[in-house]
Amino acid sequence: MPLPKLIARPRRNRKSEAIRRLVRETTLAPDDLIYPIFVDETITEPKPVPSMPGVVRHPLSEVGKIIKEVWCLGIPAVILFGIPKHKDDVGTSGWEAEGVIPRAIAEAKSAEPNICVIADTCFCEYTSHGHCGVLAGSTVDNDATLENLQKEAVAYAAAGVDIVAPSGMMDGMVAAIRAALDHAGFTQVGILSYAVKYASAFYGPFRDAADSAPSFGDRTSYQMDPANRREALREALLDETEGADMLMVKPGLAYLDVLAAVREATHLPLAAYNVSGEYAMIKAAAERGWIDERRVVLETLLAFKRAGADMILTYHALDVARWLA
Ligand code: PBG
Repeated sequence: MPLPKLIARPRRNRKSEAIRRLVRETTLAPDDLIYPIFVDETITEPKPVPSMPGVVRHPLSEVGKIIKEVWCLGIPAVILFGIPKHKDDVGTSGWEAEGVIPRAIAEAKSAEPNICVIADTCFCEYTSHGHCGVLAGSTVDNDATLENLQKEAVAYAAAGVDIVAPSGMMDGMVAAIRAALDHAGFTQVGILSYAVKYASAFYGPFRDAADSAPSFGDRTSYQMDPANRREALREALLDETEGADMLMVKPGLAYLDVLAAVREATHLPLAAYNVSGEYAMIKAAAERGWIDERRVVLETLLAFKRAGADMILTYHALDVARWLA
């Protein structure tokens, strides 16, 4: 059979690595990464997280060391999660001036003043029941929790944090925190809102890492239903209106459509959270030799960029920065 005369030949643009570099639409760099760090006030030696190979809980005494390592690899930012000595029913240790996160912020900033320190701002690590706020019966009392979020954000700001990242999916959390920060004189402390956060099974390993699993029930009355996409746009736009400086979609991999939709809906910088369960799946398959870890990780993170993320929170950050070097 004769071939058609005119064949469109997209392969011409793939014929050499040099041309592929020229036409590449999306890139991944250490600049895009935010490294999550777990700081445990109750330990003196790093403690591995079994379901997240390569991830440890750090004692306060080692925060400076890991911060320097992150900065030397060219990663501009970290997000801190705390495991406190004491928990109670409202999460008081979340807003104590000498609590684990304020101390970790101070350690981080004294080790490397130029690094961007973000603090996860929530209560599931600080409450005895593991829910993300104050309970009213068996559900979380939204407005009582907002008052505590204000105290928590101001405590982190006083310790020197650059950005607070409320992750509890309380209604009005961004406006409440913005008002409290401004009132206390912290007009330059930013808010990265976990604006679109789904009630996801992909957080399983994190709850071991941060000791934050709910002791009863689940988070479906405050985190989003995985079935919903329009609702994500509503959440994102509300947080933008309330004064968020940056927005986040979480989890990442199973929500690329949501990420792309939010990208279209806002001009704010947008983050994707490559969560603990996504990390654990890649690590487990790689340990068995079933996938090429490096290629799968780079492809995954590139997909977040392609879908519209400006930045990625990922436990792979240190490896990725080394691979890209
Ligand atoms: C706290 C919080 C969680 C994660 C980030 N912040 C846990 C949760 O909502 O249960 C999950 C991060 C991950 O899985 O990597 N609210």
